[in-house]
Amino acid sequence: MSLRSVLLTGVTGSLGSRLCDELLRRTSATIYCLVRAEDEAAAVARLSGLPYAASERVVAVAGDVRSPELGLGGRAWDALAETIGAVFHCAATVNLQAPYDLLAPTNVGGTRVLASLAARSTELTGRTCDFHFVSTLGVFINLGNRGVEFVDETFVPTEDSAGELGYPTTKVVAERELRAAAERGGLRLTVHRPGLITGDSRTGRTSDSDLLVPALQACLELGSVPDGAGETPADTVDTVARCIVELASRPAALGASYHLVRREPLPLMRAIDALGRRGHRLGTIPREQWWEMVQEHSLDSGNLTLAMMSEVSRYMFAVGRRTPRIRADATWAALTAAGVSAPPLDDALFDRVVGSLEADGKLAAPSETRTAVRI
Ligand SMILES: NC(=O)c1ccc[n+]([C@@H]2O[C@H](COP(=O)([O-])OP(=O)(O)OC[C@H]3O[C@@H](n4cnc5c(N)ncnc54)[C@H](OP(=O)(O)O)[C@@H]3O)[C@@H](O)[C@H]2O)c1
Repeated sequence: MSLRSVLLTGVTGSLGSRLCDELLRRTSATIYCLVRAEDEAAAVARLSGLPYAASERVVAVAGDVRSPELGLGGRAWDALAETIGAVFHCAATVNLQAPYDLLAPTNVGGTRVLASLAARSTELTGRTCDFHFVSTLGVFINLGNRGVEFVDETFVPTEDSAGELGYPTTKVVAERELRAAAERGGLRLTVHRPGLITGDSRTGRTSDSDLLVPALQACLELGSVPDGAGETPADTVDTVARCIVELASRPAALGASYHLVRREPLPLMRAIDALGRRGHRLGTIPREQWWEMVQEHSLDSGNLTLAMMSEVSRYMFAVGRRTPRIRADATWAALTAAGVSAPPLDDALFDRVVGSLEADGKLAAPSETRTAVRI
């Protein structure tokens, strides 16, 4: 294991940016950040908005996971392979609506390119390159419908466990290819599977890839909340990033799979109830009816927010779908040994999340919302 020099992908994204922050804070690694850009200067420019861009330990590398050898070319490819001791692969196209074929070139093909970089690193250095793959708990989303009650870290996902959805299926296939590469000796694989990733535990700031955002926006646009919703495995973005780096830093933790969520799932209503606490006057309607309204509005108005309430939201809101309970006991045993404790996912957190979405103009302020829908 070497965290002296690492390659990080997805640094311009929500989780990748926090991972970079945690790697800087908790390790002494030099972090080679793969950034989609024309050339190195443009890659540096893309990083310049990030708070840690000035660090000497952050090195921008212009490249694209969809290109052979990341688009670097033989000599630079070998130089990078020789330098790094670990890959943190966080880049992906995160799109819950898109079909498999659209996502596979980045999520599967891109992972394949990085696996070959790790294998080349192992070959050139004689040390097995560590590969930290950021997957998703969505790979198990269909198991509840198959009658499976609990899923722990020992489960191996399949196309069937991911159901019909393109995005988690790409992660199943990518995980499988990485396991095969590990068996061939080209890399040591550690799989990190987050669930729903929500706002920063201190500030509440969140990103567009937080599934709570369209859920909250839908409630405000409809002027109503469902009379209850499902539970979802979740954690905050800073905790997920910290956990990945803590696990990556412990030799005994390498080579396994982890579920980066709290032991207890998040009841969705805990987040939705924050709207009422902020002063929104919203009606409550039966869940199935609320869901029908979501469907009608996304069809009628073409409204992006509601259109984002895809099949995945059916699972979140427990409308005709069952998710299995995700176990994270082995994950938290390893994290507890590393001294990690996590701040609570409580009302105060979701008050901060909603407040910060309002401040960013992503949620209407209470005075702007329509009055409760009457049915
Ligand atoms: N968000 C969640 O709730 C969630 C839950 C479970 C798992 N995950 C996983 O966590 C990881 C990060 O998710 P996120 O929410 O942070 O995603 P995000 O904000 O959409 O960021 C995606 C990142 O991937 C990069 N990327 C995309 N295509 C690329 C390519 N062809 N070459 C190089 N880089 C490319 C993007 O770069 P550009 O800036 O150039 O587009 C961006 O930095 C993903 O692997 C995702 O599957 C996310």
